Amino acid sequence: LSSLTRRISISVLNNYISEHIMQAVEQIGIPTHFLKRLNDREQLIRKLEIIPVEVVVRNVAAGSICPRLGIEEGSALPNTLVEFCLKDDVLGDPIIAAEHIITFGWASADELDVIYDYTLRINDFLTGLFYGIGVRLIDFKLEFGRFYHDQDAADDPVIMLADEISPDNCRLWDAQTNEKMDKDRFRRDLGGLVEAYQEIAKRLGVSIPDLDQ
Ligand code: TMP
Repeated sequence: LSSLTRRISISVLNNYISEHIMQAVEQIGIPTHFLKRLNDREQLIRKLEIIPVEVVVRNVAAGSICPRLGIEEGSALPNTLVEFCLKDDVLGDPIIAAEHIITFGWASADELDVIYDYTLRINDFLTGLFYGIGVRLIDFKLEFGRFYHDQDAADDPVIMLADEISPDNCRLWDAQTNEKMDKDRFRRDLGGLVEAYQEIAKRLGVSIPDLDQ
C-alpha cells in the first residue's frame, strides 16, 4: 500500500510541477501543448501529432552518456550538448543523428531548426530558473509535436513543446550538495523520492494540496 501511495503522490507532484514549468515556458514565447490543469492528476492539452524523436539536452555529463562514451559523471560540458533518440520502444529508443531525422522524414530540416532553437532557449531559461532556487539542471528530455489549427486546411502546422517537464525527465542536483532530486533516486534505489520532488515543488513556489502520506 505504501508504494502505491508513493507512486500516486509522485504523479500528483509531477502534474503540478509540470504545469508550473510549462506555463513559464509559454510565457517566454515558446508554444506548448499545455492548456490547463484540470485536477490533481489530469491536464487539458492540445492534440498534437507527435514527432517521434526524444530531444535530450545535457549541461553536465550524467546517465547514459557516461558508460556510452567513458565519461565521468559530474563533468561539466564545455557547451550544451543536444542528442536525439528515436521514440521506438521495440528498438530501445536508439540514439540518432539530425541527418537520420531528415533522411527518414521524422521531421523536416525547417522543423528541426525550430526544435533546436526552442530546445536551446528552454535550456537557458530552465538552467537559470533552477539555479535561482539552488538546483543544477544537469540534463533533461523534451518532446515536440505539430499542432494543426484546422485539420482540413492546408496551412502549415505549428511546432509545440509536448509531454511534461518534471523531475521524472530532468536530472536535478542540489547546487550546494549535488544531492540528486529527481527520478535517479528511484532508478538507483536511493529512497526519499517523494521528499525530493516535494522539495523541488516547494523551492519553485508550487503549492500542492495536502497529499495522502
Ligand atoms: P539518459 O542519461 O538516460 O540518456 O537520460 C538523459 C535525460 O533524459 C535524463 O534527465 C532522463 C531523460 N530521459 C527521459 O525522460 N526519458 C527517456 O526515455 C530518456 C532516454 C531520457
